[in-house]
Amino acid sequence: MKKNCDLLIHQARLITCADNGQPCGLIDHGTVACDQGRIVWVGAAHESHEYTSTQTIDAQGQVLTPGLIDCHTHLVFAGSRAHEFAQRLAGVSYEAIAQAGGGILSTVQATRAASLDELVAGTVQRLQQLQAQGVMTVEIKSGYGLDVDNELKMLAAAKAAGKQAGVDVKTTLLAAHALPTEFADDADGYIDLICTELIPHVAKNHLADAVDAFCEGIGFSYAQTDQVFAAAARWGLPVKLHADQLSDLGGAGLVADYCGLSADHVEYTSTASIKKMATNDTVATLLPYAFYALNETRKPPIEAFRKHGVDLAIATDCNPGTAPTTDLLQCLHMACTLFGLTVEEAIRGVTINAAKALGIDHDKGSIEVGKAAELVLWNTTEVADLVYWQGGDRVQQLIKP
Ligand code: NIG
Ligand code: FE
Repeated sequence: MKKNCDLLIHQARLITCADNGQPCGLIDHGTVACDQGRIVWVGAAHESHEYTSTQTIDAQGQVLTPGLIDCHTHLVFAGSRAHEFAQRLAGVSYEAIAQAGGGILSTVQATRAASLDELVAGTVQRLQQLQAQGVMTVEIKSGYGLDVDNELKMLAAAKAAGKQAGVDVKTTLLAAHALPTEFADDADGYIDLICTELIPHVAKNHLADAVDAFCEGIGFSYAQTDQVFAAAARWGLPVKLHADQLSDLGGAGLVADYCGLSADHVEYTSTASIKKMATNDTVATLLPYAFYALNETRKPPIEAFRKHGVDLAIATDCNPGTAPTTDLLQCLHMACTLFGLTVEEAIRGVTINAAKALGIDHDKGSIEVGKAAELVLWNTTEVADLVYWQGGDRVQQLIKP
């Protein structure tokens, strides 16, 4: 007697991203059974299973992946920084623009002035653009509010936009993104506000899934980041970090010391930090679009990450300053062409390893029994196509029964 289930998908080229010994966990002519929002069976056509369904999809050999995950974005913001792009083209550096009061602080001004509804509307649009590329889970950071009310407004906007767009949004508190002008001469006072007011409030009310900081010469020091992480740890919130993007302040090692989820950017990360990341399972999240847009030349130490067994994730870093993009597939392509990743590493970077970078790999990131039934059917039979081709209608169907 067969068991009824909500959906059966046949004849798919399954990129399971599970560890089954095949590249990308490939299963050709694969079958997936889904029931009550979960995957209940996965296997090849010749294997027998007990499921039947009135709802079936014949994938006709097309590629099926887990829903993609963009694990590092600043999707909630107002205003535009197009003028700064023009300045950078004229030779002014990102750091110089920030030091002159532009950069992150110019987006802070616009974001503080925007209503919750305005922020939600802009974020929904950007979420829909990601969704059109097969992205079903998105991490969104605060960090353009820089005071209690506006940071909370950003987190609320992120959640509301996710609901409206039908995308699973994970939120991250990035209050330590830049120093707000009202604390211009008192960085320690601002760090204190984050540690004693914001983090406790956010933790008690479950408003964020993680805490992040910008550890950099133009951001916060190692010691200040350490204070933020200690407060997050006291309140039971996992940490991640904008680490070693423009210089090596030891940020990736620090986040690994806290058994953090991920160190992101990581262009200048040292071998000592990489070893700590490997020991504590901290993912290296690559943000090739920001590298490209800032005209950076120092590449992340990919070979050392591989050698020490650090998992690699890839994300858009979508933000109005350094990564004006909602094109995650282009970021996959760039991670390969600019940083030398393989097709398999790129695909794992936006599925299982992106799930690890958010601490949700028990639930998402691969096509395995027990995980969320969030799948993407692509307009191709070629695995490498996901990384190779740019533009056009790539997604045939998002599947979320
Ligand atoms: O990830 N590095 C800091 N934060 C962002 C940039 C934000 C901005 O310039 O608005 C990043 O690149
Ligand atoms: Fe970022």
